[in-house]
Parts: sequence; structure tokens; C-alpha cells
Amino acid sequence: MSNSKVSQPQTKRDFLKYILGGGLFAWFASITYPILSYLKPPKQREVEVKSVKVGKLSDMEKESGQLIRFGNKPVIVVRTASGDVHAFNATCTHLDCTVQYKKEFGVIWCACHNGKYDLNGRNISGPPPKPLEEYRVVIKNEEIFVSKKV
Ligand code: FES
Repeated sequence: MSNSKVSQPQTKRDFLKYILGGGLFAWFASITYPILSYLKPPKQREVEVKSVKVGKLSDMEKESGQLIRFGNKPVIVVRTASGDVHAFNATCTHLDCTVQYKKEFGVIWCACHNGKYDLNGRNISGPPPKPLEEYRVVIKNEEIFVSKKV
């Protein structure tokens, strides 16, 4: 009989501990969850794009390059010394930095680890393991259009 009198207060104390523990956990979660949700960047959905108009051919000098957005991807459009226009995915095949046209060397260059691609998109020096993905270029009425190759 004396055993049940001793155990009853402990049961109440345990119950209060659970309630307080649960309350603290709920309070902590209600503070941290909104903060973590705010800090986490939203997922970007793939934007479906068929073709992008770059601009007039006459506005693009020979031996120059420019970056455009193709959906949510960067694409580099390069006009060679002979006047040909090429377009490639501008995401480096090494660690995904954005490449740029480097006129003084006549290459597409990645500044992150000095990776170089020729003007046909082939990886020619540095760490990039693969060529750049090529896009299709169509020139219609002096306008340059870029689309994905099928
Ligand atoms: S990310 Fe381009 S060379 Fe490393």
C-alpha cells in the first residue's frame, strides 16, 4: 500500500515532464521551421523553351561572344573570325561554372579552373572532361535564332 503512494507523485512528475518536453519541442519547431523554410532556396522548374531570338547578325561583331538565357540555362553565342555563328550550353562540363568568350586567345574560357574550349565547343585544355553541348543556330532575315538540337 505504501508503494502506491510513493509511485503516484512520480507518475504525475513524469507526466508533467512529458508535457513540458513536448511543449518545448513544439515551441522550438515553430521557431526553427519557418526560418529554415525561408533560408532554403525554392526549387526552380525547368522552363520549356523551343527557340530564342538573339538579335541581328549585323549587331554581332566577328570574333565576339555573348551570353543569352535559354529558359533558365545560359547559352553562349559566338561569332568567329570567318563570320560563322555557333551556340553552346555555357555551363562548363567540369564543375558547372559559366563559360565566356575570350577574344585574345580565340577560345571559350572557363575562369573557375582555366578550362578552355575551341570555337566548336571541344574541350582543348584544363579540367573539362567533355565538349560543350551544341545548340542549333538559324539565321533568318538577318536575325539569329538559337534552338536545341534534336
Ligand atoms: S568549372 Fe570550368 S574548368 Fe572547372
